[in-house]
Amino acid sequence: MTNPHTHVEAMLEAARRARAHAHAPYSGFAVGACVRAANGHLYAGCNVENASYGLTLCAETVAIGAMVADGGQEIVEVLVLSEGAEPSPPCGRCLQQIAEFATSTTPVHLCGPDGLHPTTTLRALLPRPFRRDFLASP
Ligand code: THU
Repeated sequence: MTNPHTHVEAMLEAARRARAHAHAPYSGFAVGACVRAANGHLYAGCNVENASYGLTLCAETVAIGAMVADGGQEIVEVLVLSEGAEPSPPCGRCLQQIAEFATSTTPVHLCGPDGLHPTTTLRALLPRPFRRDFLASP
């Protein structure tokens, strides 16, 4: 199973299941996300909104948190499922969080209600992430 596309259907299903649990009473915009880790596991998440709006967690954040809590440290593939006018990419904050555990060539699948997934890469969405190298002292 080296072709990443062989995993997309399972990732989409995991994202669908998570999206069904989205807590989005304020925006009405439910999102599901799934990251596939190098350890072979899929980790899914949904957005979790809050009456204090700014505390909202994005679906990608929740999926990444689940991966890290399970010991995963490497994302090899990302899928985001939304049902707006067009499949939405991860927001800027999520892209930076993905970049912490992924590489520039990591595939990002953007899915809509019909399951279509125009695949892009992390590099295309976030060409110049802030990386840990920048923290090194001169
Ligand atoms: N949202 C995500 O879950 N992921 C993103 O990358 C962008 C936005 C959620 C946050 C909020 O609950 C809703 O979508 C509307 O912004």
